[in-house]
Amino acid sequence: MNRVRVAVLCSGGGTNLQAILDRAQAGGIPHGEIALVLTDNAGAYAIERAKAAGVEYLVVDKKQVPDRGEREALILAALKERGIGLVVLAGFMTILSDDFVKQYEMRIINVHPSLIPSFCGAGFYGLKVHEAALARGVKVTGATVHYVNEVCDGGPIIAQKAVLVEEGDTPKSLQLRVMREAEWVIFPAAVETVCKKLTGEEV
Ligand code: GAR
Repeated sequence: MNRVRVAVLCSGGGTNLQAILDRAQAGGIPHGEIALVLTDNAGAYAIERAKAAGVEYLVVDKKQVPDRGEREALILAALKERGIGLVVLAGFMTILSDDFVKQYEMRIINVHPSLIPSFCGAGFYGLKVHEAALARGVKVTGATVHYVNEVCDGGPIIAQKAVLVEEGDTPKSLQLRVMREAEWVIFPAAVETVCKKLTGEEV
């Protein structure tokens, strides 16, 4: 069976990376192979997760390479060298340039912790998304997996899952529930869906 070589890009804790690694380990991503974990943060816990899973990891550190263009050139070279066919953004906290996106058109996916088009776009990331949702008083939020194009959080939607806001929620409690009930469920599933599509087994 054809398998797409997948790179997961993350900047922090990497719980979504872990969900993807666990799903792959359990045989749930038969059309993909998690070939690389790449981070722009030398202190990212995602590195430990990659090591534990025996997956190659690379650090292109924001502090050491502060210029985004330079970092992107290094990342692109690493992806091409390894024959990566799908780029998965799992809490990767740098917006990719149009040039980068063009090189991997419809082959970059991202998870966002809200129901797009609510609470998305530049400035909405991580805990800020949940702070904004609570400040607006929404009763339902959730997560979205989408293709990445040149519009921040604007690419075609692949999957969404709703999560109820509870009385007394804090940004942190809401973040954890959205991860547990939505992100960790729909993101690994979307990786398999897109890999399958890329192998040409599904029209
Ligand atoms: C996740 O909640 C992800 O949806 C969010 O960052 C967190 C990363 O957590 N991404 C964004 O806000 C992108 N705009 P993780 O490192 O534990 O997976």
